[in-house]
This record gives sequence, structure tokens and C-alpha cells, in this order.
Amino acid sequence: MTVAIDVKDVRKRYVTKKRTGLIRSRKEVIEALKGVSFKVMHGEVVGLLGPNGAGKTTTVKIIATLLLPDSGEVFVEGFDVVRRAREVRRRIGIMLTVEKGFYGKLTGRENLEYFGALYGLSGDSLRRRVSHLMELLELKKLGAEERLFEEYSLGMKARLALARALLKDPPVLLLDEPTLGLDPPSARKIRSLVKALAREEGKAVLYTTHNMFEAEIICDRILMINKGVIVAKGTPNDLKARIPRIRTVVLVVKPASTSEERVLNAIKTSVGSKPEIRYTSEGYAELRFSIEKPEEVLNEVIKAVVAQGYEVLRLKVEEPTLEDVFMYFTGAS
Ligand SMILES: Nc1ncnc2c1ncn2[C@@H]1O[C@H](COP(=O)(O)OP(=O)(O)OP(=O)(O)O)[C@@H](O)[C@H]1O
Ligand SMILES: [Mg+2]
Repeated sequence: MTVAIDVKDVRKRYVTKKRTGLIRSRKEVIEALKGVSFKVMHGEVVGLLGPNGAGKTTTVKIIATLLLPDSGEVFVEGFDVVRRAREVRRRIGIMLTVEKGFYGKLTGRENLEYFGALYGLSGDSLRRRVSHLMELLELKKLGAEERLFEEYSLGMKARLALARALLKDPPVLLLDEPTLGLDPPSARKIRSLVKALAREEGKAVLYTTHNMFEAEIICDRILMINKGVIVAKGTPNDLKARIPRIRTVVLVVKPASTSEERVLNAIKTSVGSKPEIRYTSEGYAELRFSIEKPEEVLNEVIKAVVAQGYEVLRLKVEEPTLEDVFMYFTGAS
């Protein structure tokens, strides 16, 4: 695999004015990126994950030549984003959260033809490319091809934005929360396409998201960013292995006449703390506790519960999720 995006110690500050009175304001400096470094290789999907304001969009915009870094260097396929911006733009396809620039009074097809022409495509090759992309993103199937953009649903807009990002068939894709607000079929379509573009066509994809489930299924590697600093990186499994392996045990039981308190205390004897209890709509009780080595206490816990006359219906042991990793490294809650 070859390096597609190389970000080296990038810093970015925003200087804004903060109103302190009716007329008076004072300068406020926001350090959006405090020395961020990472690489994205061809053929991989790298997720950039972090809470609101972490610096994800700023990073994407700097790589896309839409924003200048204050210091540090960024290369796209070896071209410096500051000094060789034109070369960089030729190689990237970008999709931002707030999609601007589409024309409401043009159809989806006409919009793509317009942008295709701007990118230097023309004639038959332009028409073929647009048709292919409309097919690929199922815009034809949704009947969206000849509809005006202003009548598009959010899912159709997102699909059109991805189609636009792919017009030049760029080797590098920068996708900023491409599935935000989409329904499951549209989100799934975009995810499967992005994965295929990396796997089958060797594209390098930088993908920002808040959705842990999504990050886990599509990203080969994940970068967690918080307050302008990369706080953890690795494959989803590597990251999960780096946090304390606390597993959550969920025991679904059918209550008997014994008091709830006695059962909770019986479990506390083995586990060290009282479990949480929640009743399901069927009248069963869900007992939930977290522990590092469930295998050491499960037998005892089940025996204790059964001894109180409860019947064990289901048992689940939940492994740490990427969300736990996220909470652990970002200190979010
Ligand atoms: N144009 C701007 N002027 C001033 N501050 C800005 C500007 N753009 C972003 N910021 C600030 O920089 C920081 C990083 O913002 P950025 O948009 O990169 O975060 P993000 O990780 O994309 O967040 P979100 O998940 O909300 O999209 C935030 O504190 C934000 O308020
Ligand atoms: Mg953002």
C-alpha cells in the first residue's frame, strides 16, 4: 500500500471576535488543531472520530485545500496542499456535511453534468460518467435522476453529493459525516459503496463520523481526535484491547416471590456491588452488572439467583464497544 494522505504536525487556530457588550468585543483564539499527524494509505478507509468541535472538519478542509494550516505540512499523493493546491484538487473528491453549490432549479443529472464540465469532462464521456454514477448511487432507481434538486430528500442529496465527489474518479476521498441524518437504506448504500471503492479500486478514504457502529463496520483504522489532538489510533479491535476489559453481564430472569432486595444482595456477595435491575414489558427482570472477569463469578451468581427461586432465561456478556473506547479516550460522557 502506498501513502495517499500524509498529515504532519498540523496546527490551526481560528481568531474570532467575541461580543462582550453592545459594542465592545474581544479577540478570542480557538486552537482547533494542536499538532495533528497521521497517514492514510491507498485502499483503506480511515475513520476520524471525535466529539463536536474536536477538529474533524478543520482537518478535512486543510487536506482539501479549502483552509490553510498555520504550521505543519500535508501531502496528497506527494503534493503539498499549500504549494501544489491544483495538483491536490485534481486528486481528491470531497463531500462536506453542509452541501452547498448544487442548483435547486436543475435536475440531479443536470447538476452532475454542470460540475463534470467544470472538472473538464465533456461530450459522451461526461454523459456516460454521469449515467454510471446515477446508476451506482441508485438515483435512477429512486426516480431522482430527472427531478429538480430542490425536491430532493436528504438521502438523495447525500447520494448526489457522493456522485459529485466521484465525478473525476479521484484516488482520494474526503467524506465529512456522509451519512448524517440519513435513513438506514441510504446510509447502508453509502457505506457499502465507500468500502467497495477502497477495496476494489484502491481509493484512500478519510471518513469522519459520530456513529460508532458505522466506524466499526467500515473503518480499517480509526483516529480518535479530541480538542485538536489525536488521542488514540489503531484498528477497532486494537483500540478495544487498549481500554480496561470491563464486560457487562446481563441476566434475564423470571422473578419469584422472593423480594428483589434479597436477590440483589445475593449477587452483591459474589460480584462486590449490587446489579442494576430493570423490568421488561413481559414482566421479566434484567439484572446488569460490570466486571473484569465474568467467568470467575458467573457460576456463583446463577446459583445464588436460582436459590432464591428465580428462573434464569437468558445470559449475555457484552464486550467493550468502540463507544466505550471513545468515552475512555475523550473523557466524554
Ligand atoms: N470558521 C471558524 N471560525 C472560528 N472558529 C471555528 C471555525 N470553524 C471551526 N471553528 C472552531 O474550531 C474547532 C474545531 O471545529 P471543527 O468544525 O473542525 O470540529 P468538528 O470536529 O468537525 O465538529 P463537529 O462534530 O461539530 O462537526 C471548534 O471549536 C470550532 O468552534
Ligand atoms: Mg464537523
